[in-house]
Amino acid sequence: MKLVAVMLLLALIGGCRPVLSPTVQPDPAPGERMQTNKSAIVSDVHSYSNPQKVRVRHVDLDWTVHFDHKVMRGHADLLIERPAGSSDPLILDTRDLTIVTVSTSSGDGSWSPAEFTLGTPDKLLGAPLTITLPSGSVKRVRVEYETSPGASGLQWMEPSQTAGRKSPFMFTQSQAIHARSWIPVQDSPQVRLTYTAKVRVPPGVIAVMSAENNPRTSQGGEYSFVMRQPIPAYLIALAVGDLAFRATGPRTGIYADPTIVESAAAEFADTEAMIKATESLYGPYRWGRYDLLVLPPSFPFGGMENPVLTFATPTVIAGDRSLVSLVSHELAHSWSGNLVTNATWRDFWLNEGFTVYLERRILEVVYGARRARMEAVLGRRDLDSDLAKLDDRDEILYVDLAGRDPDDGFTHVPYEKGALFLLQLEQTFGRDRFDRFLRGYFDHFAFQSITTADFVTYLRANLLNERPELAATIPLDEWIYGTALPASAPRVTSDAFTTVEQLSARWLSREIQSAALPVKEWTTHEWLHFLSSMPKDLSADRMAELDAAFKLTSVGNSEIAHQWLLMAIRAGYEPAYARVEEYLVSIGRRKLIKPLYEELVKSPAGRDRAQAIYRKARPGYHPIAVTTLDPIVGLK
Ligand code: BES
Ligand code: ZN
Repeated sequence: MKLVAVMLLLALIGGCRPVLSPTVQPDPAPGERMQTNKSAIVSDVHSYSNPQKVRVRHVDLDWTVHFDHKVMRGHADLLIERPAGSSDPLILDTRDLTIVTVSTSSGDGSWSPAEFTLGTPDKLLGAPLTITLPSGSVKRVRVEYETSPGASGLQWMEPSQTAGRKSPFMFTQSQAIHARSWIPVQDSPQVRLTYTAKVRVPPGVIAVMSAENNPRTSQGGEYSFVMRQPIPAYLIALAVGDLAFRATGPRTGIYADPTIVESAAAEFADTEAMIKATESLYGPYRWGRYDLLVLPPSFPFGGMENPVLTFATPTVIAGDRSLVSLVSHELAHSWSGNLVTNATWRDFWLNEGFTVYLERRILEVVYGARRARMEAVLGRRDLDSDLAKLDDRDEILYVDLAGRDPDDGFTHVPYEKGALFLLQLEQTFGRDRFDRFLRGYFDHFAFQSITTADFVTYLRANLLNERPELAATIPLDEWIYGTALPASAPRVTSDAFTTVEQLSARWLSREIQSAALPVKEWTTHEWLHFLSSMPKDLSADRMAELDAAFKLTSVGNSEIAHQWLLMAIRAGYEPAYARVEEYLVSIGRRKLIKPLYEELVKSPAGRDRAQAIYRKARPGYHPIAVTTLDPIVGLK
């Protein structure tokens, strides 16, 4: 491609705006990047699409955002590839989309109407959109469409649900299979595509996307974005609201409500140090900028690794950087997940297990081994508590999700069991060797989506083969295809926590009073460990002692509050009931609220309270949280 043509195309896409990320090369142009696929398309039970026949390589998106009707209207121009002579239709995933028209073009600028059918909607998967392609040289397919106000991947919020209470807000959450609720697309993570987007928004709000992104150069409320790296659809993301920006480093910054952007920038000031740490271990950061977007508190996750722009819950702004492992986690996905991606949701542990392993390595570099170990122990405790409750089939890394919502695979198993498996490889082969292995793995599969089998093959050929006597000590099949944990799973320990356990035992036996606990020296992690080491039947009286000494009912740290409120519900500790309600109404992060509802509904009186609270809170929750909570609370 001639440079002039590339420049012209870029000028058209970008409206001549300055490109914010100088590290992103302008060549090749979007959609023209050659893709060499090391792995073939495999079947994906969560997509109707047919990429093995017709493959979408690039999409040009164009939307107008309508807050009044809670819809986005516009079109998606899909650039397709298919074998010569193919007569196969293009099948896209959709959910609750209204299709206005479909047309095709050979790329000469003229469009012809195309025949299409929208299949019967499936509750889990949505509806396949089957588009007949004329034989010949069709290269582009345009779908004009509108989203529905109930789209599972969008949350529309009133001004009152934002920190500034001034402007409405909308954001997307596409992982796992929600991209299809706002874009007609081949919604399988093995299909990677580049994109451009034009977004028109009303006055008073700006648009940001997880792409090359310069929201300070809008023209009359129209924003333009470009993603030059091929990514899976679940990483396409958009947010629209009253957002301010603060730089925290040369390639890092924060977008947040103007009222919280300063505190967010202070909380996340170590982001550049984290990037440097990750680069030194696993190779260059390949995405240009790394910004964080702090969402309203209803964001159903802690964080989402949307490329270039991680979406994050405000509940990690604790004031002391104690919850920023979230940033190291989402940042790590820039290698494990976004660069090397799970081919299907069955392979989700390749994303999350690797990422948790990387997250702790980053924490170790930036905050030291003491902190990394504490977090690892807390992770193991979460894993053990899941293993005690889960069905056998959900204890397997290579989990069978057929017929199920992939969001159901969101347990600690892919995260913590996956990370322990990698830790065993590290401990067996030595850190230096394993670091080199991982770095080679990221390079080898960069911008590819791979299956568990692809990983195993690579592991055998590039690590296990070198030292058969060591390889023999790794129960590989048990790790990946077995339930529970192999007996040889590494044990993680923390001296800091051993000290806490001794203190908590002495406090429980009344050998020491609350005032004698050295809480001034405790970090958030020690608090969490102290509270979770309490027996499940701790009495309300003993809770009252702790509360009197440490004011735990009004603690601001969202994780400590979560643990405390869980104990309060268990113990029937009434002075915390109002706080339970306030917490559940003001936060929508699923991990923090789901266990509280589950604990509440265990008693008849608790169930009544849960339902009363849920009635108030539900309108403010994200569709993904509502789907999880409705059956738990038993209220619609
Ligand atoms: N990619 C996940 C979030 C996700 C997973 C969304 C599956 C939808 C489906 C993200 O990286 C993540 O793991 N977030 C965690 C935080 C992390 C610190 C463990 C979360 O949201 O709790
Ligand atoms: Zn993750």
